[in-house]
Amino acid sequence: MEAAVTIWHIPLSEGPTVDDHALLDVAERRRAERFLREGDRRRYVRAHAAMRRILAQEAGCRPDRLVFVAGEYGKPALADGSVRFNLSHSGDHAVLATSVEVEVGIDIEIRAIDTQRIARLVLTDGETKAFAVLPADVQEAAFLRVWTRKEAVLKAVGCGLTLDPRNVEVGLGSVPETPELAGQRWRLCDFTLAPGLEPSPIRFTQPHRDAAFPTNETGASVSQAEASIWPVNALIGCLAANKKIAPVGIRSGAIK
Ligand SMILES: CC(C)(COP(=O)(O)OP(=O)(O)OC[C@H]1O[C@@H](n2cnc3c(N)ncnc32)[C@H](O)[C@@H]1OP(=O)(O)O)[C@@H](O)C(=O)NCCC(=O)NCCS
Repeated sequence: MEAAVTIWHIPLSEGPTVDDHALLDVAERRRAERFLREGDRRRYVRAHAAMRRILAQEAGCRPDRLVFVAGEYGKPALADGSVRFNLSHSGDHAVLATSVEVEVGIDIEIRAIDTQRIARLVLTDGETKAFAVLPADVQEAAFLRVWTRKEAVLKAVGCGLTLDPRNVEVGLGSVPETPELAGQRWRLCDFTLAPGLEPSPIRFTQPHRDAAFPTNETGASVSQAEASIWPVNALIGCLAANKKIAPVGIRSGAIK
């Protein structure tokens, strides 16, 4: 049986409303006040208000009544555990994964900074070899893919970057590995949000094993077809769950 997970896209280009502010609890308001840049504050308030509305809809309660707790390394959860969720933001976008069945982690990235340097710090030996033989023009997109896979797993587990990403083998191939971590096997599902398509859809990247290039001795590959559909400034994302997940659709999180 495949578990159901929903990914919600939350556009953050518009500023928050008075209603958005009113939904946040004391901790969220304090956190919002600590942002140095006004833009970061506005995106945070917008994302958390949308997250509350979505979770309230899923849990069947009022958005301002939701009570959050934090795990050992800060992973937020609902106090009553009714809905599992995870949030990620990048630029003017946030995504929220929700599920009543499985633990989830999600990550999106809009662009990679200093890809070559960071790759050395986060890739496993096998991933490093596969990365090195990629054509230069697909390396940034490939790095974003592998990085979002790692972060999604680490966020699903809840440890985040307290665990060295070099301990998590997710692969660069079209079909992600299923890493084992914290005693569980994690399933990964890549997705891409194309620019100019706000608020949705996000499409799931399909495996293209037959068109793969280049393949190296580790068997890792990135397909030409896959690389070419990653437009500049696309949002590359990955969802991780501790059970096989159905290829879910992406829904707009801009609900009122
Ligand atoms: C979790 C982490 C990887 C997020 O990295 P990021 O790329 O900057 O951020 P993303 O946008 O993808 O995700 C941020 C969201 O993840 C969630 N989150 C926070 N900590 C988390 C954790 N340990 N595990 C999973 N999700 C977490 C929050 O909802 C957060 O959103 P918010 O800042 O609006 O509340 C990073 O913050 C981390 O490694 N944290 C754990 C270690 C740590 O510093 N803990 C401090 C408290 S003990």
